[in-house]
Amino acid sequence: MLVFAPLLLTAVVAVPTQTVLESSGPRPLVIWHGLGDTAHSKGMNQFADFVRDEYPGIFVHSVVSPNGGSPSDEQKAGWWGVGEELSQGGCDQIKSIPELQDGFDAIGFSQGGLFLRWYAQNCDGPPVKNLITFGTPHFGITDLIPCPDPPTLTCTLASRAAKAGIYTRWAQSHLIQAQYYRDPVRMRQFLQTNTFLRDLNGEKDMDEEGGFRRENGGRGLGGLENVVAIAFRDDITVVPRVSTHWATIDPDNSSHVIPLEEQEMYVGDFIGLKRLAQKGGLHRLFCPGQHMDLGGEGGCGDRMVRKWVGWPA
Ligand SMILES: *[C@@H]1O[C@H](CO)[C@@H](O)[C@H](O)[C@H]1NC(C)=O
Repeated sequence: MLVFAPLLLTAVVAVPTQTVLESSGPRPLVIWHGLGDTAHSKGMNQFADFVRDEYPGIFVHSVVSPNGGSPSDEQKAGWWGVGEELSQGGCDQIKSIPELQDGFDAIGFSQGGLFLRWYAQNCDGPPVKNLITFGTPHFGITDLIPCPDPPTLTCTLASRAAKAGIYTRWAQSHLIQAQYYRDPVRMRQFLQTNTFLRDLNGEKDMDEEGGFRRENGGRGLGGLENVVAIAFRDDITVVPRVSTHWATIDPDNSSHVIPLEEQEMYVGDFIGLKRLAQKGGLHRLFCPGQHMDLGGEGGCGDRMVRKWVGWPA
């Protein structure tokens, strides 16, 4: 020990004090709300406050989507709009925030996780380090997200329009849920008319038979430190719930789950998930309960924050 002590001392002295102080703080965090929610709703504020209590001094930004929108714009934008445009808005917003310039961790709630994934793969802004998604349908949905009870007019109209033709050009450019609707029995239509989810998973130039090409997945996810995809065990909002772990249901046998490891996009590593898994950075975890049931104080949401957020910058 004595032999090393002077060396250590020299190293410490050589580093400017200010750098030491700055780099010892927790990494900033970006959060992106779910469908029908807003950046500064009661629930989102409570979540952000919990993170701030847990990691004093942490910078937390809740994405306002669309960029500069009012709460009612935000609620509407969860149903109506273009996924890539909303995501680009988030990209512009994040780029304009000085506190985020050295990179950040990100938490996406449900649908918000898809927009953050778009950011991680396509935005030319600061890098995402740990990406944590709660109940995010990474491999799409085969049923519409049910409307709240009582249903809002926005939701009722959107689902009526979606049911009329999910893979029409109109739905694909106006209804957010249609843009992550991925039905394994209608892959041809999905691959032809969808852009948002298809490209997020690098399936752009895939034909129905698969094919090992990686297109338009941007940078993919291989360069992130960790991707933590959290599924809710009793989720009945996201159908199928295994989509939150990039799995699908076999169209010929509804009790057969096809895991990520057997998906073309993983085998061919279209978006770097295999590379990420091989370096130990892909985590598929569970929370008990229903969709977005974070379990209150000391619950699953809190435990995930304690484990994956607030690492030294
Ligand atoms: C359907 O899948 C389940 C689970 O993998 C399996 O046990 C069962 O044998 C399958 N049924 C048929 C008819 O292939």
